[in-house]
Amino acid sequence: MELTLTRPDDWHLHVRDTDALTTVIPHTARQFARAIIMPNLQPPVTTTKQALAYHQRILAAVPDGVHFTPLMTLYLTDQTTADDIIEAQASNRVQAVKLYPAGATTNSAAGVTEISKTWGALESMEEQGLPLLVHAEVTDPEIDVFDREQVFIDRHLQPLTQRFPQLKVVLEHVTTREGVQFVSSAPDTVAATITAHHLLLNRNAMFKGGLQPHSYCLPVLKRELHREALLAAAISGNRKFFLGTDSAPHTRERKESACGCAGIYTAHAALELYAQAFEDADALQQLEGFASHFGADFYGLPRNTDQITLVKKDWQVPDSYPLMGSALVPLFAGETLHWQVKAGSTD
Ligand code: NCD
Ligand code: ZN
Repeated sequence: MELTLTRPDDWHLHVRDTDALTTVIPHTARQFARAIIMPNLQPPVTTTKQALAYHQRILAAVPDGVHFTPLMTLYLTDQTTADDIIEAQASNRVQAVKLYPAGATTNSAAGVTEISKTWGALESMEEQGLPLLVHAEVTDPEIDVFDREQVFIDRHLQPLTQRFPQLKVVLEHVTTREGVQFVSSAPDTVAATITAHHLLLNRNAMFKGGLQPHSYCLPVLKRELHREALLAAAISGNRKFFLGTDSAPHTRERKESACGCAGIYTAHAALELYAQAFEDADALQQLEGFASHFGADFYGLPRNTDQITLVKKDWQVPDSYPLMGSALVPLFAGETLHWQVKAGSTD
């Protein structure tokens, strides 16, 4: 069996920098035409100048003969000004701005401490039509880690969308039923990305036979009822929900540690994993809208015109890939996947 789609895009991706790019960029560029590149480097990408330099470093890692366009983002801080936003928009390279609540996740220490401090920047984004991408979790240690998305929506996201009604907002990597409900009932300016791992796994995956660091990410995997709500949204044909892998590479040492960091790596098999989730839900016909149309439409970018073909064919995920002199353990390492992107598939 084969499935041919418009070439998809990844609307939420971490690729890191320097040597890591040579491992992870070919994985993404093999299947996606474009990807929204997250700015949580160390130091973070807070200026257009930094974003343009990062863009060049990413392009240098794209294999010869492959077309891949990194779509750059800025990392919002308490200090980001309206002028920074105007400069970003004028660059034609910066496509969005990412809000990390300070301390919410990997490399978020320089993030926003209080959303009201960013109102000047948000107003400018609203005027310029530059989308705000939100890591929607509160950092309040009193709040249960499994409830942090819902509490963020109630305390911060709902009021923010009311204060800035024209601002395009993406609830990144939505993980809960409440998140899906919020986005579904919000105006068309509000959308969400959904990861492959949140469609395929529930929180049991973190504890299967022992503690499983490679199934730990943020926002953390949730209960089965939330996975079901995400899957229902993804296959619904609702244009507010589109593909964003949140593939987040870390070395084995940083994952398999007494304090392992958050991030699941899926770029090695991203489209294949989504195809599996959609097939399991008997909804393969809905994959193209979710993976290849709705994100571009939301961002106001043209849809891709070339195509990609998936083949139903078993293959084994490698145990690891090389990363920065160490190893990168991908999701489902050593396991068999049933879909495979046909090599070199195009137009
Ligand atoms: C991401 C990372 O490693 O940069 N980790 C993750 O678990 N998703 C950061 C993020 O998107 O939260
Ligand atoms: Zn992310």
